[in-house]
Amino acid sequence: MGKKMYITTPIYYVNDVPHIGHAYTTIIADSAARYFRLRGYDTFFLTGTDEHGQKIEQSAKSKRKSPKEYADEISKKFKDLWDQFEISYDRFIRTTDSEHIKGVQKAFEIMYEKGDIYKGEYEGHYCISCEAFFPETQLIEGEFCPDCGKVTTIVKEESYFFRLSKYQEDLLKWYKEVDDSILPKSKKNEVIRFVEDGLNDLSITRTSFDWGVKLPSSINDPKHVMYVWLDALLNYITALGFGTDEKLMHYWPANYHLVGKDILRFHAVYWPAFLMSLGLELPCHIAAHGWWTRNGEKMSKSKGNVVDPKTVADAYGLENFRYFLLREVPFGQDGDFSQKALIDRINSDLSNDLGNLLNRIIGMSGKYFDFKIKSENVKKFHEKELKEVEEITLSLEKYVKEMKWNKYLEELWKILSIANKSIDTYAPWSKMKEGRNDEAMATIALVANILTKTALLLHPVMPKTTSKLADALGFEITKENFDKFITNCQLLEETIIKKILPLFPKIEEPLMQESKPQEQKKKEEKKDNKEKKIEGIITIEDFFKVSIKVGVIKEVEEVPKSKKLLKLKVDLGEDRPRQIVAGIKEYFTPDELIEKQVCVVANLKPAKLMDILSEGMILAAKDEDGLTLITPMKRKKPGTPVK
Ligand code: ME8
Ligand code: MG
Repeated sequence: MGKKMYITTPIYYVNDVPHIGHAYTTIIADSAARYFRLRGYDTFFLTGTDEHGQKIEQSAKSKRKSPKEYADEISKKFKDLWDQFEISYDRFIRTTDSEHIKGVQKAFEIMYEKGDIYKGEYEGHYCISCEAFFPETQLIEGEFCPDCGKVTTIVKEESYFFRLSKYQEDLLKWYKEVDDSILPKSKKNEVIRFVEDGLNDLSITRTSFDWGVKLPSSINDPKHVMYVWLDALLNYITALGFGTDEKLMHYWPANYHLVGKDILRFHAVYWPAFLMSLGLELPCHIAAHGWWTRNGEKMSKSKGNVVDPKTVADAYGLENFRYFLLREVPFGQDGDFSQKALIDRINSDLSNDLGNLLNRIIGMSGKYFDFKIKSENVKKFHEKELKEVEEITLSLEKYVKEMKWNKYLEELWKILSIANKSIDTYAPWSKMKEGRNDEAMATIALVANILTKTALLLHPVMPKTTSKLADALGFEITKENFDKFITNCQLLEETIIKKILPLFPKIEEPLMQESKPQEQKKKEEKKDNKEKKIEGIITIEDFFKVSIKVGVIKEVEEVPKSKKLLKLKVDLGEDRPRQIVAGIKEYFTPDELIEKQVCVVANLKPAKLMDILSEGMILAAKDEDGLTLITPMKRKKPGTPVK
């Protein structure tokens, strides 16, 4: 075998059943693994589950199960889903596997002996949902997690620390020296800024709960369990036998750690520092994709807006779903999931551009040439098209190497467009009428060759469908054929086209029921009285959901670099004034605002504007004359409800 390739997904927490966010990462990794295998790389593809830590312990408790029992159950759900999806992983690791635990203890020992771990006391805040520590200065309002917004808990306990600060300069050097260490490259600056701000040593053990890996016996400190992220990140090497049986360690370093942007910092800062401490090579690429959202909000179980990947795959076809996930969003950006977008992709890209093309070739080759195709005259009549096609197909590998699957597929579709256009332009049916059979054959063969290349290049994304396509064209998807038809740009020899059923039937209407709460809402709406049919009418209950209160503006501050925003402190009769960012700077001087009474929407979800937290909205009215604030006719006590 040729070169080696090691690809990983994150190991997923077992507090959450898999949703399309997880499927996305895993399907990208699977497509990459399939691509590199097809190219002849000796490939190892790892996925698995992350099972220790406080968050899992708590989830298990709430289900009245032991953590292990609970982890077994959910870990199996991940594994079963990946098996149903035919994910081509080589190993499914669980952090409760005994070799993993041994490997983690070994790593701790090495780092300890090196002097990179010392004992101290941690005092600060912890977000259980993110399993992350935060210094007070990073919290929102001194209390909330800057990453997920949930409330943090205060931790004050004995802890071992990893000397992360010691690696600050080496990390910065690495980011600078290895241009594509972090993909997409645009994400690298965020990481650099974080590191340049200064790294604190990292607390890597906890004493207040048990569900974690114990310290190595040589350290003999049984109160402590390891910080779940230290345990989890090490899976990437323990899966290769690090610390136990190292016979797979030749796959290290990882070529691609695929992750979501939510956990980029752990992979791009902590993980390389741990590796430096262990004296191991750093990963070649950490590739961070964006989030799938529903109506603009990150999909997550706690928000209750998740889409079940199995339901989507069952309704629309697994491979169509894979194609959609990879094609729909540029790598690194967020994407909103909707059935409409999925149906559009299936109907236009797959059914029209690809499926119909195959049908036309089956039809014409059958009608004119008894399904027999010869490529001998393609070069003569279609040199220009062939050259364009080869240029595109030879350029595609670079997109895979940067995990830009969206671009890869977009470019690949250009050869289909050349094929479709050639049929229309050269109209083989009229060439046949004119007795120019050679030319008609050349065009049909050109298209058959384009379909051949498409089958090979699309194979990693749609393995089964492309095997059927290849079968219809009379060849097999193999490394040798990839080399022959793609790398060496050879053409099909004489081949017999097989008639097959359409690969991509058109989808006429949504095939999935929307999730229950929404459906119920729709039914309830129908039952409601006639008035509700008038657009925009709401009920009194709807209105009472909004809490409007009288407030007094106490402080006004400019927002640096903003033409429109002011930062206000507004007294709503609570124990502290609210901070509200309002787009009113163009209309008032600070003096005009101080001590003014205003009406404030008090139960809006806090949001950040130019990175400043805003905890409410001030009511205003604006017309061509300008903007004015809504204020009570008589002064009222701050906090008085407006009804
Ligand atoms: O973070 N859109 O596990 P996790 C896209 N155990 N991808 C999403 C997503 C969304 N809405 N939601 C989740 C952990 N993901 C740790 C990892 S690794 C050593 C330890 C995907 O279960 C994405 O890959 O919270 C994200 O990074 C991962 O699931 C987080 O999974
Ligand atoms: Mg998560």
